[in-house]
Amino acid sequence: MSSSETRIKEMVAHKWDLASETFDTHVGHGIRSKKERDAWKRAFREVFPEKGLKILDVGCGTGELSLLFAEMGHKVTGIDISRKMLKTAESKAEACGAEITFREGDAENPPFMTPSFDIVFSRHLLWTLPDPKKAVENWNRVLRKNGKVVIIDGVWDRGTLGDRARRNIGAFLTLLLERKDPRKGHPGYSEELKSRLPHAGGAPLEKVKEYLAASGFEEVRTLNLKEVRQAQKENMPLGERIMRNYQYYLICGRK
Ligand SMILES: C[S@@+](CC[C@H](N)C(=O)[O-])C[C@H]1O[C@@H](n2cnc3c(N)ncnc32)[C@H](O)[C@@H]1O
Repeated sequence: MSSSETRIKEMVAHKWDLASETFDTHVGHGIRSKKERDAWKRAFREVFPEKGLKILDVGCGTGELSLLFAEMGHKVTGIDISRKMLKTAESKAEACGAEITFREGDAENPPFMTPSFDIVFSRHLLWTLPDPKKAVENWNRVLRKNGKVVIIDGVWDRGTLGDRARRNIGAFLTLLLERKDPRKGHPGYSEELKSRLPHAGGAPLEKVKEYLAASGFEEVRTLNLKEVRQAQKENMPLGERIMRNYQYYLICGRK
């Protein structure tokens, strides 16, 4: 890795260290209801119905979905570059007696030498990677034959006036009605950092399809996660519902 790439990664890790304490309190991060939990499980069973899979959760953060996978009977490893996010994840796993391996590692180049996983999973990660194409290539590398890549992402800011207005109105309403800063706990990347990330406003589905095709993934399909979104919305104040009204998807492909 070049020194400039290392610097970018350090900046990203630092931002998420700062965000680690409040990350799970955001709707869309922490699972808020049984309805949402069940909706997630149904979505994942649709994509990988098998039991006891080896799952690598790249950029696992506080491990919210790593824990869900463990609850579903899978064997989970989570990697992240933020030590504090990992620490939170470890405490959560310990608290509920889940056996999950969490370790520090770069999602763009997971620290595994051989194809060892049935599933490589990422949620809300591609947007914050300087080289998402390389990441997807390396996810393919660590997957066993017939393994699947499963990616959840969205595009919240296409740089248009409409998107900016939606986000600002949503944030204003949250401040006004909830007396809460909706961006508190979000790392708020600098312009310099954003300029180094090809998808700083979110990874467009079409682009992710290109990455999967370039890495040789087959049987690519998407899910719109409608049930999950619906369940999340039920716990979202009006301002956040407005802010979060953007393209959101799950995409998967087979090696
Ligand atoms: C928006 S959070 C998502 C966390 C988790 N996947 C979830 O959905 O709850 C992004 C996470 O990606 C991690 N991250 C960013 N760049 C990374 C990299 N190059 N390698 C590993 N983790 C990374 C951050 O530290 C942070 O925990």
